[in-house]
Amino acid sequence: MLVNNQVIISAELRKRFADARRVVVLTGAGVSAESGVPTFRGGGQSAVWKGMPFDKISSAGMLERNLAEVWEWFNYRRELIEKIAPNAAHHALAGWEKRFPDFTLVTQNVDGLHQAAGSSDVLELHGNLWRARCKTCGMKYDLRDKESSESRTFICSACGNYLRPDVVLFGEMLPAGVFERAVLKARSCELCFVVGTSALVYPAAALPEIAGAAGAYTVEINPELTPLSDLCDEAIQGKAGEVLPLF
Ligand code: APR
Repeated sequence: MLVNNQVIISAELRKRFADARRVVVLTGAGVSAESGVPTFRGGGQSAVWKGMPFDKISSAGMLERNLAEVWEWFNYRRELIEKIAPNAAHHALAGWEKRFPDFTLVTQNVDGLHQAAGSSDVLELHGNLWRARCKTCGMKYDLRDKESSESRTFICSACGNYLRPDVVLFGEMLPAGVFERAVLKARSCELCFVVGTSALVYPAAALPEIAGAAGAYTVEINPELTPLSDLCDEAIQGKAGEVLPLF
């Protein structure tokens, strides 16, 4: 709740936070916004790349039509993120991993900033832009050790075919088993936070609903209201980097 424009954590939520053992957190692009990573939506704007809406350049169709263009987009995102550090929200969540006996961090983000802040075993629903995988044999590669030049497409050293970003593109399935693990945790958690997502992309946005239906106390943290705000037990309208450290 807001008091004189100050975010105040309710007594109810403080108590539940103090008593909780099983906690799930779902994050979206908003958790990286204060680090300088542009969100895709929110604030009335929608990301565009060379005049193309982001969901077109980040699509399975574009991957088939123009792999080099897709690489150029992800090379740009990677170079942007390379210069960026995790913020107070990422660090707070890394601390929660040590605080709660059963803590699950699920992210839609592909920027790797949770891991850079010290979070481990992050469930990456949409992959990670620091990895590539072979379009044919599926072999994965860490791009941190590959010199990435503008629009150069990578070749698999195992089978000689093209690599693609190891990121889930629009029109593609989520990586096998990751969402299923998140659902199991959502079904058994006591407290579920949803932080910095417009809650427009499924199946990720279903997680807080699944947790709520299983009896968890659900809390949204976002400066803006989303389709989840009324479904959550509490909707805290504030920035992740300002609200999460309050716990
Ligand atoms: N703290 C918390 N939330 C914030 C902040 C902040 N500092 N700044 C912005 N937000 C909120 C916005 O109000 C918006 O609701 O973060 C949300 C960002 O929404 P999107 O850009 O739609 O990002 P996300 O929900 O993660 O998108 C889901 O869609 O584009 C695909 O695959 C991509 O993973 C992404 C998925």
